[in-house]
Amino acid sequence: MDVYTAIHGRRSVSTLAEDVPPRTVIERLINAAVWAPNHHLTEPWRFHVLCGAARSEMGAAVADRLEEELDPADPATSGAIRSARSRLSRAPVVVVVSQNGSDDPMVNLEDYAAVCCATQNLMLAAHAEGLATKWRTGDMCDYRASKEFLGLSEADRIVGYVYVGYPAAHLSSDDRERKSPEVGWLGWDDPSDSVSV
Ligand SMILES: Cc1cc2nc3c(=O)[nH]c(=O)nc-3n(C[C@H](O)[C@H](O)[C@H](O)COP(=O)(O)O)c2cc1C
Repeated sequence: MDVYTAIHGRRSVSTLAEDVPPRTVIERLINAAVWAPNHHLTEPWRFHVLCGAARSEMGAAVADRLEEELDPADPATSGAIRSARSRLSRAPVVVVVSQNGSDDPMVNLEDYAAVCCATQNLMLAAHAEGLATKWRTGDMCDYRASKEFLGLSEADRIVGYVYVGYPAAHLSSDDRERKSPEVGWLGWDDPSDSVSV
């Protein structure tokens, strides 16, 4: 699959079949991820690949710890705990992509950008392999309990939970439009290009 076909064809998919993709395929996705550009050559990414019982084990460990981490008086707490317990089981494989923290704020920012690029590489490679993905974030990225379960430090950042599996429904590549981007063409000879969008 050429890169334009992969970029245009990849779509976030919420409903995944239960079949577990082969581990060798997931390894290929991770090997594609790490070819992302990375200004400081820190290779700041880390991957935890959850499958089978590991998904509910992480969900249960995080949910149990949230009883202490969250405010019991907050009406949202019980829903957050319930959701933490079950949400990772929505995909046969969950790749947790994290960034190693840096003390230097600029490195930290650029490393975050690099890990986002790595995540997109992983999703494009998955699409080329006939798999579907969804990048999920939210509170599960920020809970101390999530980092603790994965052995991450407070300074590390969970950049996303990439849900990976076979699409349960047919994938349409054009079901979501993109607006024409604002583009400033500077220094181009043809004046009609100079304020094109
Ligand atoms: C940083 C980031 C975080 C995201 N977090 C979520 C999320 O928590 N839940 C979700 O359903 N989708 C999430 N998405 C997926 C977007 O909703 C999705 O990419 C967007 O709707 C565009 O659809 P497409 O991926 O099919 O082009 C996230 C995407 C990115 C880049």
